[in-house]
Order: sequence, then structure tokens, then C-alpha cells
Amino acid sequence: MSSTKNIDVFFSAQSFQENELRDKSVVVIDVLRATSTIVTAMMNGAKGVIPVEDMGEASRISQSVDSDNYMLCGEKDGAKIDGYDLGNSPLEYTRETVSGKTLIFNTTNGTKAIKKSLGSATIYIASFLNLSTIVKALSVEKNEIVLLCAGWKGRLALEDMLLAGNIIYNLCDAQLSDEANDGAKVAFGLYEKYSDDIKSVVFQSNHAQRLKDVVGTDDIDYCCQTDITDQLPILHDGIIST
Ligand code: MLT
Repeated sequence: MSSTKNIDVFFSAQSFQENELRDKSVVVIDVLRATSTIVTAMMNGAKGVIPVEDMGEASRISQSVDSDNYMLCGEKDGAKIDGYDLGNSPLEYTRETVSGKTLIFNTTNGTKAIKKSLGSATIYIASFLNLSTIVKALSVEKNEIVLLCAGWKGRLALEDMLLAGNIIYNLCDAQLSDEANDGAKVAFGLYEKYSDDIKSVVFQSNHAQRLKDVVGTDDIDYCCQTDITDQLPILHDGIIST
């Protein structure tokens, strides 16, 4: 059983060094929208998701694979990238579109956070959509746990910290130990403050404001749903699968 004493929260993909993750289990969180999209793709039968660092890596991989079975997906600053098959709206990742496909996935912060975690022991992909499944897996995790919030270009993202806090709140049965790490205390406190009103707080977040201008609000509504799936996406050998 994992103790919340052994949980830390990093607030962005730039807020730590890779060696801090060695031998730890990492839970990557990018509520708006990368990890919500990955969970949705897996729920709708995608064979796997290959997270990439940038457009260069995405295009190198896409040129070496069979385009019938692979799709090039992702965004830059929220907008679909020209020439890609899909953007980063989870609503695009329907069963008809992604079932049986392997997705090469390139996003502004989420996939960078995943790539930066490659030296860790295990990498889980979390969202509100699969919250209870993540909590269940972490409750029996033997390693120390890092909840890695992707954030936005080095800055904290409120929606990611809220989910981190929600995970911790569930893991400790709402009673956080005084010995918990500072990051865990901040995330837990944030969740306690806003737990009755997650959706409206997420809608007021900086990234929701950004997304409203680029893609509207449907994705934000979708990503605020809790426990619509029991998918547990994990990265193995460079590919996320369940
Ligand atoms: C990211 O990786 O930064 C995001 O998922 C951005 C987005 O909302 O498309």
C-alpha cells in the first residue's frame, strides 16, 4: 500500500531534473488535453500511442511506418498541426477513427512530460476520465510516486494540480499526513478548496481561456468528466497501451 508520505507533485515538465524520477512511478497529468485524449484513444480501441518530443521526431517516425495502421496526431499551442491526421481534441478520437491504429502523438506540454519521464520505473497516464482506476493502481504501488503535472510551458496549470490533489485526497482518505511533501500538501489543499466546483474552476483556468479561443468549450466539458472509463494506460518500450 502506498503511503502519501511517499508522493510528490511536480507542477510542470520543466520543474525537475530527469534523475529525480529514477526508480519512481510517475503519473503524467495533462487534463487539458493530452492525457485526456490518450485515455480516450485507448478507450476507443487505439492499439497504442507513441508520445514524441516535437514535430521532427513525429515526422521521422511517421515516414518509417505504414500509413494504413498509423496516424499522425497532435497540436501546437492548442491548434491542429497542418498535415496531421488528428489534432488534440479527445472528441476526434472516436472508435470509428482510432480503433486498431497506432497514434504518433505530439503535443506542446503533455508528450514532453511523458518523454522526460522515460528514466522512471513506471509511467501511468491519468485524467479525470480514469481517476478511480489510477487511484486503485497507485494504492498498491510499491515505488515512490511522482504526480507529474505537464503544466503550460514551465508554468503551473490549475486543472492539472486539481487532479493531482484529487488523486492524493482519495489515496489518503481525505486525511493528509503532516509528513507529506510540500507539493502533495499544495495539491491536496487546492482540491479541498475547490472539490465541490471542479468544472467551473477548470473553466476559469488559464489554459481553458486559451482553448476557448482556439477550439471552443466542448473539449473542456468533456475533460471534466470523472470515471467514464477504467482504462489504465502505461508506457512500455516507448508505446502507451493498456
Ligand atoms: C499540451 O500538451 O500542452 C496540451 O494538451 C495542449 C492542448 O490543449 O492541446
